[in-house]
Amino acid sequence: MKQLVPSALLLLLIAACHPVVSPSVQPSVRSGEQTRSERVSMVTDVHSYSNPQQVVVRHADLDWTVLLDRKMLRGHADFLIDRPIGSTEPLILDTRDLTIVAVSTSVSNAGRLPAQFTLGTPDKLLGAPLKIELPAGPVKNVRIEYETSPAASGLQWMEASQTAGKKSPFMFTQSQAIHARSWIPIQDSPQVRMTYTAKVRVPAGLMAVMSAENNPREAQRGEYSFVMRQPIPAYLIALAVGDLEFRSTGPRTGVYADPTIVAAAASEFSDTEAMMKATEGLYGPYRWGRYDLLVLPPSFPFGGMENPVLTFATPTVIAGDRSLVSLIAHELAHSWSGNLVTNATWRDFWLNEGFTVYLERRILEAVYGTRRAKMEAVLGRRDLDDELAKVEDRDEILYVDLAGRDPDDGFTQVPYEKGALLLIQLEQTFGREAFDRFLRGYFDHFAFRSITTSEFVSYLKANLLDRSPELAARIPLDEWIYGTGLPASAPLITSDAFATVEQFSNRWLKGEISTSAIPVRDWATQEWLHFLSSLPKDLSSARMAELDAAFKLTAAGNSEIAHQWLLMAIRSGYQPADARLEDYLVSIGRRKLTKPLYEELVKSAPGKERALAIYRKARPGYHPIAITTLDAIVGWN
Ligand code: BES
Ligand code: ZN
Repeated sequence: MKQLVPSALLLLLIAACHPVVSPSVQPSVRSGEQTRSERVSMVTDVHSYSNPQQVVVRHADLDWTVLLDRKMLRGHADFLIDRPIGSTEPLILDTRDLTIVAVSTSVSNAGRLPAQFTLGTPDKLLGAPLKIELPAGPVKNVRIEYETSPAASGLQWMEASQTAGKKSPFMFTQSQAIHARSWIPIQDSPQVRMTYTAKVRVPAGLMAVMSAENNPREAQRGEYSFVMRQPIPAYLIALAVGDLEFRSTGPRTGVYADPTIVAAAASEFSDTEAMMKATEGLYGPYRWGRYDLLVLPPSFPFGGMENPVLTFATPTVIAGDRSLVSLIAHELAHSWSGNLVTNATWRDFWLNEGFTVYLERRILEAVYGTRRAKMEAVLGRRDLDDELAKVEDRDEILYVDLAGRDPDDGFTQVPYEKGALLLIQLEQTFGREAFDRFLRGYFDHFAFRSITTSEFVSYLKANLLDRSPELAARIPLDEWIYGTGLPASAPLITSDAFATVEQFSNRWLKGEISTSAIPVRDWATQEWLHFLSSLPKDLSSARMAELDAAFKLTAAGNSEIAHQWLLMAIRSGYQPADARLEDYLVSIGRRKLTKPLYEELVKSAPGKERALAIYRKARPGYHPIAITTLDAIVGWN
């Protein structure tokens, strides 16, 4: 109990310095009892060297100068730690490619003492453990002064030419899964949750944003400060710096983007508040204050990243017709599944993503109707079937074994779509009302905690399955979680809209109708995607030309439709799309959109040469995470 007083005091001080923050998001002050049981419940995380079982970080106070010209962050991280009285254990942090300048400790903030530290041998996958010896007695604060490397895996530094406005350089972080350690020495395991504050200095004219509340009272002349009052895991700490403009889209929502695209972004994402209300109606209050979106340059390797308070998003979802906003529903849903209730280790990743895909479709249904939600579900199912046909058996398992592997390898459709299918089966078996009540209780029960698959299973049994054994008998739970493939009873989702699309594509393929008889005028993006992907893989170049003449698909501005079309163009050797393919791959860095195209290209010898030629041009603009994936595909060395 006693040992917690200083950290609680500091948190109160932080709160006092930021009176603008609403009192509903106060940090939770823990009792000694809770702290002890939390420490006991820490599990082994094969992707972290840290030792939260012995010494655990509770709060981080971060301070950086962003050196855009040198592509590095320089500053310090102050950690409030919690160590049992009498313990002599060191503090072990994860690092990757960091230069440690100095380490010191103190009991309060006064009187720092230099501390002994050793940086272990770097492991290719995990980085290097930073072991800090702590003096006997009540150490509360550990400061690490350090610099990042220009090659940090979690940072991307961009020249002005790589941004929408082409005026100013840009930098952003991407910490999930284990890249936080490349820009902060930290206990980089998702079971370790901490609050944080940060001070960021940037060149005049640039704005800094973080996955936290900024203090709007500050003059912000090149210096920004942030506070995150809810305990979050390291992978949700995020920072971006660039020429950004803010546009409000609702009482608690808004968009940050390059000034040249902020208006388009605000209009594309204007349904965000409606999505929030829908989710709150289903799963309880949004507990993070504001929900803003940050539109990144096109090299962002993901579609979206659920950094709390500030989702990071690819500009490729700005289609002009809101047709790709399922991504926003997805990242917003993580405010419940993922950020509120978090996977304890990367083995439990499906708890984040499977739940989130399920929530995403419920949000789509509430805001855009069943027709849209069903189309998205069917597209998801096809992606899952394609993935299952490709991956090794061990990657077909929800509770995936990632020991000795990069957790980014677990990023397949399996945790997403197979996870969501399990929840759909639970919903269909127990009824929507009962399952909604269960999920809402789950989010309340585990709020701001990180849990394992077995904790979920116990909770599910106690709160749903054991209450109706005859219904529970229809759920092959072990097969779902620990088995490969899909259980025979996996739910099948169908879409009437897609059935109609198929009728037309079949008749066109058989030569019964011409392109002008296909009712594309009413088609949503999802219908286009279904139409294209249900055509045979060996469609001839001549038939491709027919489609292109009628529908201008090579010129399609929608990033998903263009992706599907270009995939077909490679397969059928449709040369009029060659230039567009190169342009697409050079201008877009989102891995989901680029990876399948390179994979398709390298299947033939001339294709492989083309892939390399394009890759040579595109690679300098790609993010380190995308480069790791794509180097292996094109055989770059
Ligand atoms: N949290 C993920 C992104 C992620 C997962 C990054 C694992 C690094 C490691 C995010 O919520 C996500 O799933 N994004 C998807 C889009 C979504 C609509 C399925 C993406 O980026 O493709
Ligand atoms: Zn996700």
